Amino acid sequence: MIRLGVNVDHVATLRQARMIDVPDPVEAALIAEHAGADGITVHLREDRRHIQERDVYLLRERSRSKVNLEMAVTTAMVAFAESVKPNDACFVPEKREELTTEGGLDVVSQRARVKEAVERLQGRGIHVSLFIDPKPAQIEAAKETGAHAIEIHTGSYCNAAGPARAKELDAIAGAARVARGLGLEVHGGHGLNYENVLPIARIPEIVELNIGHSIIARAVIVGIEQAVREMKELLNRARP
Ligand code: PXP
Repeated sequence: MIRLGVNVDHVATLRQARMIDVPDPVEAALIAEHAGADGITVHLREDRRHIQERDVYLLRERSRSKVNLEMAVTTAMVAFAESVKPNDACFVPEKREELTTEGGLDVVSQRARVKEAVERLQGRGIHVSLFIDPKPAQIEAAKETGAHAIEIHTGSYCNAAGPARAKELDAIAGAARVARGLGLEVHGGHGLNYENVLPIARIPEIVELNIGHSIIARAVIVGIEQAVREMKELLNRARP
């Protein structure tokens, strides 16, 4: 069976739109676990545009599955992760102006820095994965850092169509084989949705997928009916 990590960042995006305390990504995470999520993923961005430090601490306390903290490779974030001690951490590249994580982490050009961060967190019992593009050089560099796992960036596959998508799928399957052959655990994520996930989920070396936006987007749509009914009933009670 493949594990599903549910990323609840965009519940926090909705909360931050009003700067109040609902909807609570931690409450969403607990419901996701109840529904079968094998883990909860949150990205504490340096610009704090969605998830806040409070969310990560509370999630760590209340989650009954496992918490995967996505983070940039910075001294401040490594120190934060050491204090929260999530089960897993995933190093991602971060640019302030991006809409979402745009590409994999370039491990090749910063091996020493990444290795040091990996060693610090894994020394505290946190399993580290590196979010990388499906490229052999990045996989080999990831292996050299001593990281437990890689998460293959599936964004290019998701954005492609037709033969280009088949090519991206081949690249991901090949990368998963190479990584597993080197002893790395293999995860995948970014851009996966109800239409494109199956071919990725069938790659035997991939043991975990982290999916966020499509699940939260669907939750908003399938939840509208109940939310409107509840408000309508309340109003009808005030003035039958
Ligand atoms: N994996 C990583 C490393 C990510 O940065 C993200 C986005 O935060 C995801 C998975 C989830 O991507 P999406 O929201 O497109 O499902």
